[in-house]
Amino acid sequence: MPLVSMRQLLDEAAKGGYGVGAFNVNDMEQIQAIMAAAKETKSPVIVQASRGARAFAEDLYLFKLIQAAAELNPDIPIAMHQDHGNSFETCKSAIELGYTSVMMDGSLKTDGKTPSTFEENVEVTRRVVEYAHPRGVTVEGEIGVLGGVEDGHGAGGSGLDHITDPDQAVEFAERTGVDALAIAIGTSHGAYKFTKKPDGSVLKMDVLIAIHKRLPNTHLVMHGSSSVPKDLQDVINQYGGKLKETWGVPVEEIQLGIRNGVRKINVDTDNRLAITGAIRKVFAESPEKFDPRDYLKPAREAMQKVVALRMTQFGQAGHAGDYSPIPITEIAKGYADGSLVTRPLVAAK
Ligand code: G3H
Ligand code: 13P
Ligand code: ZN
Repeated sequence: MPLVSMRQLLDEAAKGGYGVGAFNVNDMEQIQAIMAAAKETKSPVIVQASRGARAFAEDLYLFKLIQAAAELNPDIPIAMHQDHGNSFETCKSAIELGYTSVMMDGSLKTDGKTPSTFEENVEVTRRVVEYAHPRGVTVEGEIGVLGGVEDGHGAGGSGLDHITDPDQAVEFAERTGVDALAIAIGTSHGAYKFTKKPDGSVLKMDVLIAIHKRLPNTHLVMHGSSSVPKDLQDVINQYGGKLKETWGVPVEEIQLGIRNGVRKINVDTDNRLAITGAIRKVFAESPEKFDPRDYLKPAREAMQKVVALRMTQFGQAGHAGDYSPIPITEIAKGYADGSLVTRPLVAAK
């Protein structure tokens, strides 16, 4: 099956009332783990690459691997997405490569660290939409700023520093025409999200619900949505790792989000933890081993397990065969003739 528009995946998810996991990749083993999980659970899937991933793997290696995944899995709809594009040029280069979806994260300036102004965010995001839609490519924007990750993409600090304002979310969706909207409700990237299990007072689910009420047809995106499970932390620490005690986003909160308009859920850290734990275990238990396959295979299996579980928890499992992919050229026509709506439905306060 050719790569699919993320808009189509999310529109179908909205019809079915489920969420779709967007899993980050940097290499072949991670792509294989996701595809094995998608096959096992019969799930449509979003595969995403950050700027760091594209640089690490070199664009063409990574994109050809995704094409191989699509060719080898003709029954699985796959959208290939640029995660946290920092500029128009980053998004344009992803589209030129063949990505079917891009995130223009204009919540931060091009350095990927400094919060931008609302007007700067609107302007760059709208420019990306104007370039992407005539090519049938989906655009995700972000309003509000996530916390975490000092060396990669992220403003650092707590996820509670720049919570999305619902009025701004409405104005942003209206002025940009994005297909999906990432909002900040207190999550952050990386393993260190919360120092205790977050309850309703920590994670701003009320803000998410308020935004969904105002924008009932807009696909919402939750970033920083790894759950950082204790069992994965324990494996790492049992085999010589030094993770400090930490909590992620409880799956029940994500499921509450899915019942309130969340259609895309970004997960990277949980897979990083699973891979690292599996590799550490082999190194600790079998120090005589030196064939990379001896530790990459268990690492790939550990990631498959996490991804398959999330696919089931998010509700996308079983939905791979629900629909046939619309060619990207047809999606482009849909944007042009207005059958693919980009002007959000806005409900009164
Ligand atoms: O945005 C965060 C993702 O986990 C990607 O992280 O920029 O280190 O590849 P990265
Ligand atoms: P985590 O660090 O919680 O996995 O978040 C990943 C993410 O949001 C990628 O954009
Ligand atoms: Zn993110």
